[in-house]
Amino acid sequence: MASPTKEHVLERLADVKAPDGRPLPATGTLSDIVVSDGKAFFSIGVDAGAVRSWEPVRKAAEIAARSVPGISSAMVALTAERAGGGPVRPPAAAPAAGGPRPARAPEGVKSIIAVASGKGGVGKSTTAVNLALGLASLGLRIGVLDADIYGPSVPRLLAIKGRPQSIGGTRLKPMTGYGLQVMSIGFLIEEETPMIWRGPMVMSALTQMLREVEWGELDVMVVDMPPGTGDAQLTLAQQVPLAGAVIVSTPQDLALIDARRGIAMFRRVNVPILGIVENMSYFLCPHCGARSDIFAHGGARHEAARLGVPFLGEVPLDMAIRETSDAGRPVAATAPDGAHAGIYRDIASKVYAQLSGGDRPGRPAPRIVIEA
Ligand SMILES: Nc1ncnc2c1ncn2[C@@H]1O[C@H](COP(=O)(O)OP(=O)(O)O)[C@@H](O)[C@H]1O
Ligand SMILES: [Mg+2]
Repeated sequence: MASPTKEHVLERLADVKAPDGRPLPATGTLSDIVVSDGKAFFSIGVDAGAVRSWEPVRKAAEIAARSVPGISSAMVALTAERAGGGPVRPPAAAPAAGGPRPARAPEGVKSIIAVASGKGGVGKSTTAVNLALGLASLGLRIGVLDADIYGPSVPRLLAIKGRPQSIGGTRLKPMTGYGLQVMSIGFLIEEETPMIWRGPMVMSALTQMLREVEWGELDVMVVDMPPGTGDAQLTLAQQVPLAGAVIVSTPQDLALIDARRGIAMFRRVNVPILGIVENMSYFLCPHCGARSDIFAHGGARHEAARLGVPFLGEVPLDMAIRETSDAGRPVAATAPDGAHAGIYRDIASKVYAQLSGGDRPGRPAPRIVIEA
Protein backbone atom coordinates (compact mmCIF):
# COMPACT_ATOMS: atom_id res chain seq x y z
CA MET A 1 0.00 0.00 0.00
CA ALA A 2 1.38 3.40 -0.96
CA SER A 3 1.86 5.65 2.04
CA PRO A 4 -0.90 8.17 2.53
CA THR A 5 -0.44 11.73 1.29
CA LYS A 6 -2.15 15.01 1.97
CA GLU A 7 -4.08 14.58 -1.30
CA HIS A 8 -5.66 11.45 0.16
CA VAL A 9 -6.67 13.43 3.22
CA LEU A 10 -8.07 16.27 1.10
CA GLU A 11 -10.18 13.80 -0.85
CA ARG A 12 -11.83 12.61 2.36
CA LEU A 13 -12.23 16.13 3.67
CA ALA A 14 -14.34 16.95 0.64
CA ASP A 15 -17.11 14.96 2.35
CA VAL A 16 -16.93 17.13 5.46
CA LYS A 17 -19.34 20.04 5.40
CA ALA A 18 -18.59 23.49 6.82
CA PRO A 19 -21.35 25.19 8.88
CA ASP A 20 -22.56 26.90 5.71
CA GLY A 21 -22.84 23.56 3.90
CA ARG A 22 -19.81 23.96 1.65
CA PRO A 23 -17.24 21.17 1.46
CA LEU A 24 -14.47 21.94 3.94
CA PRO A 25 -11.63 22.21 1.37
CA ALA A 26 -13.65 24.83 -0.52
CA THR A 27 -13.88 27.20 2.43
CA GLY A 28 -10.27 28.40 2.38
CA THR A 29 -9.92 27.71 6.08
CA LEU A 30 -7.55 24.74 5.86
CA SER A 31 -3.90 25.08 6.73
CA ASP A 32 -1.25 22.99 5.12
CA ILE A 33 -1.85 19.33 5.78
CA VAL A 34 1.13 17.50 7.20
CA VAL A 35 1.12 13.74 6.87
CA SER A 36 3.92 11.99 8.63
CA ASP A 37 4.40 8.45 9.80
CA GLY A 38 0.75 7.51 9.72
CA LYS A 39 -0.39 10.72 11.39
CA ALA A 40 -2.12 13.75 9.92
CA PHE A 41 -1.87 17.27 11.33
CA PHE A 42 -3.63 20.41 10.16
CA SER A 43 -5.65 23.31 11.37
CA ILE A 44 -8.85 25.06 10.42
CA GLY A 45 -8.62 28.84 10.75
CA VAL A 46 -11.95 30.49 11.50
CA ASP A 47 -13.37 33.71 12.90
CA ALA A 48 -13.06 33.91 16.65
CA GLY A 49 -16.82 34.32 17.00
CA ALA A 50 -17.56 31.20 14.97
CA VAL A 51 -15.39 28.76 16.86
CA ARG A 52 -18.32 26.99 18.51
CA SER A 53 -20.13 26.20 15.28
CA TRP A 54 -16.90 24.84 13.80
CA GLU A 55 -16.16 22.37 16.57
CA PRO A 56 -18.29 19.58 15.03
CA VAL A 57 -16.50 20.27 11.72
CA ARG A 58 -13.15 19.83 13.43
CA LYS A 59 -14.27 16.51 14.88
CA ALA A 60 -15.64 15.33 11.55
CA ALA A 61 -12.37 16.35 9.86
CA GLU A 62 -10.40 14.23 12.33
CA ILE A 63 -12.59 11.24 11.66
CA ALA A 64 -12.34 11.79 7.91
CA ALA A 65 -8.55 12.04 8.05
CA ARG A 66 -8.35 8.85 10.11
CA SER A 67 -10.44 7.04 7.52
CA VAL A 68 -7.60 7.32 5.02
CA PRO A 69 -5.91 3.92 4.81
CA GLY A 70 -2.50 4.14 6.50
CA ILE A 71 -3.43 7.05 8.76
CA SER A 72 -3.87 5.93 12.33
CA SER A 73 -4.30 9.24 14.08
CA ALA A 74 -5.16 12.82 13.25
CA MET A 75 -4.67 16.03 15.15
CA VAL A 76 -6.90 18.80 13.85
CA ALA A 77 -6.83 22.15 15.59
CA LEU A 78 -9.30 24.96 15.37
CA THR A 79 -7.50 28.27 15.29
CA ALA A 80 -9.14 31.65 15.44
CA GLU A 81 -7.56 34.73 14.02
CA ARG A 82 -8.42 38.34 14.47
CA ALA A 83 -9.00 40.50 11.45
CA GLY A 84 -5.53 41.97 12.03
CA GLY A 85 -3.98 38.51 12.00
CA GLY A 86 -2.28 36.68 14.82
CA PRO A 87 -3.78 34.35 17.35
CA VAL A 88 -6.64 35.48 19.51
CA ARG A 89 -5.39 35.97 23.01
CA PRO A 90 -7.32 36.37 26.18
CA PRO A 91 -6.46 39.61 27.94
CA ALA A 92 -3.94 38.93 30.69
CA ALA A 93 -5.51 38.02 34.00
CA ALA A 94 -9.01 38.62 32.76
CA PRO A 95 -11.72 37.42 35.13
CA ALA A 96 -12.93 33.99 34.16
CA ALA A 97 -16.53 34.65 35.14
CA GLY A 98 -18.84 34.22 32.21
CA GLY A 99 -15.91 33.72 29.87
CA PRO A 100 -14.77 30.57 28.12
CA ARG A 101 -13.89 27.50 30.13
CA PRO A 102 -10.70 28.16 32.10
CA ALA A 103 -7.64 26.06 31.40
CA ARG A 104 -7.23 23.26 33.86
CA ALA A 105 -4.36 20.89 34.38
CA PRO A 106 -5.03 17.45 32.95
CA GLU A 107 -6.81 15.15 35.37
CA GLY A 108 -4.34 13.71 37.86
CA VAL A 109 -1.61 16.32 37.25
CA LYS A 110 -1.04 18.32 40.41
CA SER A 111 1.31 21.10 39.25
CA ILE A 112 2.68 22.23 35.94
CA ILE A 113 5.84 24.30 35.86
CA ALA A 114 7.61 25.92 32.94
CA VAL A 115 11.35 25.97 32.40
CA ALA A 116 12.04 29.01 30.27
CA SER A 117 14.85 31.19 29.05
CA GLY A 118 14.99 34.50 27.32
CA LYS A 119 17.07 32.99 24.55
CA GLY A 120 18.20 29.65 23.17
CA GLY A 121 21.41 27.83 23.90
CA VAL A 122 21.62 28.71 27.59
CA GLY A 123 20.97 25.12 28.68
CA LYS A 124 17.22 25.34 29.18
CA SER A 125 16.49 21.79 28.04
CA THR A 126 19.43 20.34 29.94
CA THR A 127 18.16 22.10 33.05
CA ALA A 128 14.56 21.03 32.44
CA VAL A 129 15.50 17.37 32.11
CA ASN A 130 17.85 17.31 35.08
CA LEU A 131 15.39 19.28 37.20
CA ALA A 132 12.71 16.73 36.29
CA LEU A 133 15.05 13.92 37.31
CA GLY A 134 15.96 15.79 40.49
CA LEU A 135 12.26 16.01 41.34
CA ALA A 136 11.83 12.32 40.55
CA SER A 137 14.72 11.51 42.88
CA LEU A 138 12.69 13.12 45.68
CA GLY A 139 10.17 10.34 45.14
CA LEU A 140 7.76 12.37 43.03
CA ARG A 141 5.92 11.28 39.89
CA ILE A 142 7.16 13.52 37.14
CA GLY A 143 6.24 14.23 33.53
CA VAL A 144 8.11 16.25 30.92
CA LEU A 145 6.29 18.08 28.16
CA ASP A 146 8.66 19.27 25.47
CA ALA A 147 7.01 22.40 24.15
CA ASP A 148 10.09 23.59 22.31
CA ILE A 149 8.56 23.21 18.89
CA TYR A 150 11.49 24.77 17.07
CA GLY A 151 14.08 22.48 18.60
CA PRO A 152 12.51 19.61 20.50
CA SER A 153 15.49 18.06 22.23
CA VAL A 154 13.95 16.10 25.09
CA PRO A 155 13.78 12.82 23.12
CA ARG A 156 17.54 13.01 22.56
CA LEU A 157 18.36 14.19 26.08
CA LEU A 158 16.48 11.22 27.54
CA ALA A 159 17.49 8.78 24.79
CA ILE A 160 13.90 8.00 23.92
CA LYS A 161 13.28 6.56 20.48
CA GLY A 162 10.15 5.43 18.72
CA ARG A 163 6.62 6.70 18.52
CA PRO A 164 4.01 7.12 21.20
CA GLN A 165 1.23 4.54 21.05
CA SER A 166 -2.18 5.81 20.24
CA ILE A 167 -5.06 4.78 22.46
CA GLY A 168 -8.21 4.39 20.41
CA GLY A 169 -6.93 6.78 17.74
CA THR A 170 -7.60 9.89 19.80
CA ARG A 171 -5.34 9.81 22.82
CA LEU A 172 -1.63 9.15 23.08
CA LYS A 173 0.37 7.27 25.65
CA PRO A 174 3.38 9.22 26.87
CA MET A 175 6.82 7.73 26.29
CA THR A 176 9.00 6.93 29.26
CA GLY A 177 12.65 7.56 30.01
CA TYR A 178 14.51 7.23 33.33
CA GLY A 179 11.16 6.89 35.04
CA LEU A 180 9.73 10.11 33.56
CA GLN A 181 6.54 10.34 31.50
CA VAL A 182 7.47 12.25 28.36
CA MET A 183 5.72 13.84 25.42
CA SER A 184 7.43 15.86 22.73
CA ILE A 185 6.47 17.23 19.38
CA GLY A 186 9.71 15.55 18.36
CA PHE A 187 7.95 12.16 18.68
CA LEU A 188 5.21 13.20 16.34
CA ILE A 189 7.14 14.62 13.43
CA GLU A 190 10.27 13.59 11.61
CA GLU A 191 13.29 15.70 12.38
CA GLU A 192 13.52 16.68 8.71
CA THR A 193 9.88 17.79 8.55
CA PRO A 194 9.98 21.51 7.83
CA MET A 195 8.42 23.66 10.50
CA ILE A 196 5.64 24.86 8.31
CA TRP A 197 3.07 24.88 11.05
CA ARG A 198 1.71 28.30 11.60
CA GLY A 199 2.04 29.77 15.08
CA PRO A 200 -1.58 29.39 16.17
CA MET A 201 -1.69 25.83 14.94
CA VAL A 202 1.37 25.01 16.96
CA MET A 203 -0.29 26.42 20.05
CA SER A 204 -3.25 24.16 19.54
CA ALA A 205 -1.01 21.17 19.01
CA LEU A 206 0.61 21.95 22.34
CA THR A 207 -2.74 22.25 24.06
CA GLN A 208 -3.56 18.85 22.66
CA MET A 209 -0.26 17.37 23.84
CA LEU A 210 -1.35 18.56 27.24
CA ARG A 211 -4.92 17.33 27.11
CA GLU A 212 -5.02 14.40 24.73
CA VAL A 213 -2.19 12.49 26.31
CA GLU A 214 -2.78 9.95 29.08
CA TRP A 215 -0.45 11.57 31.57
CA GLY A 216 -1.79 9.62 34.50
CA GLU A 217 -1.02 10.71 38.05
CA LEU A 218 1.78 13.26 38.19
CA ASP A 219 3.02 15.36 41.07
CA VAL A 220 4.76 17.77 38.72
CA MET A 221 4.82 18.23 34.97
CA VAL A 222 7.90 20.10 33.73
CA VAL A 223 7.38 22.00 30.49
CA ASP A 224 10.44 22.78 28.37
CA MET A 225 9.28 26.05 26.81
CA PRO A 226 10.36 27.44 23.46
CA PRO A 227 13.14 30.00 23.98
CA GLY A 228 12.34 33.69 23.85
CA THR A 229 9.62 35.98 25.04
CA GLY A 230 7.58 36.58 21.91
CA ASP A 231 3.93 35.96 21.13
CA ALA A 232 4.34 32.20 20.90
CA GLN A 233 5.78 32.01 24.40
CA LEU A 234 3.22 34.38 25.84
CA THR A 235 0.32 32.46 24.36
CA LEU A 236 1.73 29.23 25.68
CA ALA A 237 2.24 30.71 29.13
CA GLN A 238 -1.44 31.64 29.06
CA GLN A 239 -2.80 28.43 27.65
CA VAL A 240 -1.05 26.12 30.06
CA PRO A 241 -2.24 26.41 33.67
CA LEU A 242 1.21 27.03 35.10
CA ALA A 243 1.89 26.87 38.82
CA GLY A 244 5.16 28.68 38.25
CA ALA A 245 8.16 29.26 36.05
CA VAL A 246 11.86 28.53 36.44
CA ILE A 247 14.09 30.88 34.46
CA VAL A 248 17.42 29.61 33.18
CA SER A 249 20.13 32.11 32.40
CA THR A 250 23.85 32.21 31.89
CA PRO A 251 25.63 34.86 33.93
CA GLN A 252 26.44 37.37 31.15
CA ASP A 253 24.66 40.68 31.12
CA LEU A 254 23.14 40.03 27.72
CA ALA A 255 21.60 36.74 28.78
CA LEU A 256 20.35 38.39 31.94
CA ILE A 257 18.55 41.07 29.96
CA ASP A 258 16.72 38.28 28.17
CA ALA A 259 16.02 36.52 31.45
CA ARG A 260 14.52 39.75 32.78
CA ARG A 261 12.20 39.85 29.78
CA GLY A 262 11.18 36.28 30.52
CA ILE A 263 10.34 37.17 34.10
CA ALA A 264 8.34 40.19 32.96
CA MET A 265 6.41 38.01 30.53
CA PHE A 266 5.37 35.49 33.19
CA ARG A 267 4.48 38.25 35.60
CA ARG A 268 2.25 39.78 32.97
CA VAL A 269 0.17 36.62 32.90
CA ASN A 270 0.32 36.15 36.68
CA VAL A 271 2.55 33.10 36.67
CA PRO A 272 4.70 33.06 39.82
CA ILE A 273 8.45 33.00 39.26
CA LEU A 274 9.82 30.01 41.17
CA GLY A 275 13.34 31.32 40.66
CA ILE A 276 16.40 31.68 38.49
CA VAL A 277 19.00 29.01 37.77
CA GLU A 278 22.42 30.23 36.75
CA ASN A 279 23.68 27.73 34.19
CA MET A 280 27.28 27.59 32.96
CA SER A 281 27.94 29.56 36.08
CA TYR A 282 31.66 28.86 36.44
CA PHE A 283 34.19 26.47 34.96
CA LEU A 284 36.04 23.86 36.95
CA CYS A 285 39.11 22.72 35.03
CA PRO A 286 38.93 18.92 34.82
CA HIS A 287 42.74 18.79 34.70
CA CYS A 288 43.96 21.16 37.36
CA GLY A 289 40.76 21.69 39.37
CA ALA A 290 41.13 25.46 39.09
CA ARG A 291 37.94 27.40 38.88
CA SER A 292 37.42 30.16 36.31
CA ASP A 293 34.43 32.44 36.14
CA ILE A 294 34.28 32.50 32.37
CA PHE A 295 31.06 34.46 32.10
CA ALA A 296 31.53 36.53 35.24
CA HIS A 297 29.73 34.15 37.57
CA GLY A 298 27.14 35.42 40.01
CA GLY A 299 25.17 37.67 37.66
CA ALA A 300 21.98 35.67 37.99
CA ARG A 301 22.10 35.60 41.79
CA HIS A 302 22.45 39.36 41.71
CA GLU A 303 19.65 39.75 39.25
CA ALA A 304 17.38 37.48 41.29
CA ALA A 305 17.94 39.63 44.36
CA ARG A 306 17.32 42.78 42.37
CA LEU A 307 14.05 41.43 40.96
CA GLY A 308 12.94 39.91 44.23
CA VAL A 309 12.73 36.33 42.96
CA PRO A 310 14.33 33.23 44.50
CA PHE A 311 17.78 32.18 43.38
CA LEU A 312 17.72 28.43 42.86
CA GLY A 313 21.33 27.51 42.27
CA GLU A 314 24.45 27.55 40.15
CA VAL A 315 25.23 24.81 37.67
CA PRO A 316 28.87 24.81 36.52
CA LEU A 317 29.96 24.71 32.92
CA ASP A 318 31.22 21.19 32.82
CA MET A 319 32.20 18.83 30.05
CA ALA A 320 30.46 15.96 31.85
CA ILE A 321 27.15 17.80 31.75
CA ARG A 322 27.46 18.48 28.03
CA GLU A 323 28.58 14.97 27.16
CA THR A 324 26.01 13.12 29.24
CA SER A 325 23.25 15.48 28.23
CA ASP A 326 23.90 15.21 24.52
CA ALA A 327 24.33 11.44 24.75
CA GLY A 328 20.97 10.92 26.44
CA ARG A 329 22.49 10.00 29.80
CA PRO A 330 21.59 12.98 31.99
CA VAL A 331 23.79 13.32 35.07
CA ALA A 332 20.92 13.52 37.51
CA ALA A 333 19.94 9.98 36.53
CA THR A 334 23.22 8.35 35.57
CA ALA A 335 25.45 9.74 38.33
CA PRO A 336 22.94 10.33 41.12
CA ASP A 337 25.63 10.46 43.80
CA GLY A 338 27.80 12.96 41.94
CA ALA A 339 28.18 16.65 42.65
CA HIS A 340 26.11 17.70 39.63
CA ALA A 341 23.18 15.50 40.53
CA GLY A 342 23.35 17.03 44.00
CA ILE A 343 23.07 20.52 42.55
CA TYR A 344 20.02 19.59 40.48
CA ARG A 345 18.41 17.80 43.43
CA ASP A 346 18.93 20.89 45.51
CA ILE A 347 17.31 23.06 42.83
CA ALA A 348 14.47 20.53 42.62
CA SER A 349 13.89 20.68 46.38
CA LYS A 350 13.73 24.46 46.30
CA VAL A 351 11.25 24.34 43.45
CA TYR A 352 9.08 21.70 45.03
CA ALA A 353 9.06 23.44 48.40
CA GLN A 354 7.37 26.36 46.69
CA LEU A 355 4.82 24.18 44.93
CA SER A 356 3.87 22.26 48.01
CA GLY A 357 4.35 25.17 50.41
CA GLY A 358 0.66 25.58 51.05
CA ASP A 359 1.15 29.28 51.67
CA ARG A 360 0.56 29.98 48.02
CA PRO A 361 -3.04 30.87 47.34
CA GLY A 362 -4.45 29.10 44.31
CA ARG A 363 -3.89 31.23 41.27
CA PRO A 364 -6.97 31.60 39.11
CA ALA A 365 -6.29 29.46 36.07
CA PRO A 366 -5.68 31.36 32.84
CA ARG A 367 -8.35 31.13 30.23
CA ILE A 368 -8.38 29.38 26.92
CA VAL A 369 -10.25 31.22 24.26
CA ILE A 370 -9.96 28.64 21.58
CA GLU A 371 -11.18 25.18 22.47
CA ALA A 372 -9.62 22.91 19.90
N1 LIG B 1 26.14 23.32 32.59
C1 LIG B 1 26.52 22.92 31.39
N2 LIG B 1 27.81 22.57 31.17
C2 LIG B 1 28.23 22.18 29.94
N3 LIG B 1 27.44 22.12 28.86
C3 LIG B 1 26.15 22.46 29.03
C4 LIG B 1 25.62 22.88 30.29
N4 LIG B 1 24.29 23.14 30.12
C5 LIG B 1 24.03 22.90 28.83
N5 LIG B 1 25.13 22.50 28.16
C6 LIG B 1 25.24 22.17 26.73
O1 LIG B 1 24.92 23.35 26.00
C7 LIG B 1 24.20 23.02 24.83
C8 LIG B 1 22.87 23.75 24.84
O2 LIG B 1 22.10 23.25 25.91
P1 LIG B 1 20.52 23.03 25.79
O3 LIG B 1 20.06 22.47 27.08
O4 LIG B 1 20.19 22.27 24.56
O5 LIG B 1 20.10 24.55 25.66
P2 LIG B 1 18.71 25.24 25.24
O6 LIG B 1 17.63 24.27 25.52
O7 LIG B 1 18.66 26.46 26.09
O8 LIG B 1 18.85 25.57 23.80
C9 LIG B 1 24.07 21.50 24.82
O9 LIG B 1 25.10 20.96 24.01
C10 LIG B 1 24.28 21.12 26.28
O10 LIG B 1 24.81 19.83 26.43
MG1 LIG C 1 16.37 23.30 24.13
